[in-house]
Amino acid sequence: AAGKVMVTGGAGYIGSHAVLALLDAGHEVVVVDNLVTGFDWAVDPRAVLVVANVADDAAVRGAIRDHRVHAIMHFAGSVVVPESVADPLKYYRNNTAATRSLIESAVAGGVPHFIFSSTAATYGTPARVPVQEGDPTIPINPYGMSKLMSEAMLRDVAAAHPINYAALRYFNVAGADPVGRSGQSTVGATHLIKIAVEAATGRRDAVSVFGTDFDTVDGTGVRDYIHVSDLAAAHVAALELLVANPADSHILNAGYGRGFSVNQVLDAVDRVTNRTIERRYEGRRAGDPAELIADNRAILAALVWQPRRDDLDTIVTDALAWERTLAERGR
Ligand code: UFG
Repeated sequence: AAGKVMVTGGAGYIGSHAVLALLDAGHEVVVVDNLVTGFDWAVDPRAVLVVANVADDAAVRGAIRDHRVHAIMHFAGSVVVPESVADPLKYYRNNTAATRSLIESAVAGGVPHFIFSSTAATYGTPARVPVQEGDPTIPINPYGMSKLMSEAMLRDVAAAHPINYAALRYFNVAGADPVGRSGQSTVGATHLIKIAVEAATGRRDAVSVFGTDFDTVDGTGVRDYIHVSDLAAAHVAALELLVANPADSHILNAGYGRGFSVNQVLDAVDRVTNRTIERRYEGRRAGDPAELIADNRAILAALVWQPRRDDLDTIVTDALAWERTLAERGR
């Protein structure tokens, strides 16, 4: 093969699944990860691991040169919305400024393709549901703004330099590798399905339900949960698209186009585990929209990609299996 794909954040949750998808598709991979929230054991041994910050220009440019990197998938970043409100400059450093450095390294190294982990948080409270890519982007927290600013840099750089990009706006990513090679190992996770499977395996004693008075099917918040392996496969398909059409860039919602409420998710966990997790009904979390669902027609039209694990019980089953693996390994 003519060089490697660089995966930043490849030791993290979504990045480690992208590494697997790339390797499974026959790509060679170099991971750049500072291991602050990721784990070296999460990186498939077929990939090269460079332990560095993406803003470390010398390390990144050296890796681009040494591994003849022809595409970058950029997952590294900070992802906790409430933390971004409390410490916005951390988000503008780890997300916006680090991405600026990485893009500059890509341009300097002549890397022609860039795939960026963006987020539905760029929409803020969506103008409508399902939300389309052309709808207004008015982030309601620094996390969403830090990612939107990165999208803007990519747009401007792609207009000025020989590089194209795909920004995938993730909805709610959950689940784990179906054959058990990776999963969400984040310490202190805040994401609903991760928390629910922690409760199901006895790591916590109950799940809080934040808000019961939303204008939704049962009053609890509705989200578009996408299986991490389908999301990883979408990145590989996006890379193929960028290679095939070097003049074009893309911003694409990455979701399934349907939503489940918090109670429906917890029902699924109860169903899959055949037990009843205690639910503690609490007030709304600050900044939570009632409903967030992707209009996914653009990604389905643009990519050679079919969702394969678009089923809530499948997502929960895979997440639960990984949680049990973590428990067995004492992690
Ligand atoms: N929720 C609970 N209890 C919990 C955790 C979550 O009731 O213990 C609820 C939330 O209020 C929300 C839903 O479950 O209604 C999903 O919450 P998550 O925290 O799992 O995810 P969010 O929708 O808040 O955020 C996710 C990503 C963000 C991203 C956002 C929009 O984690 O990074 O989607 O794309 F910004």
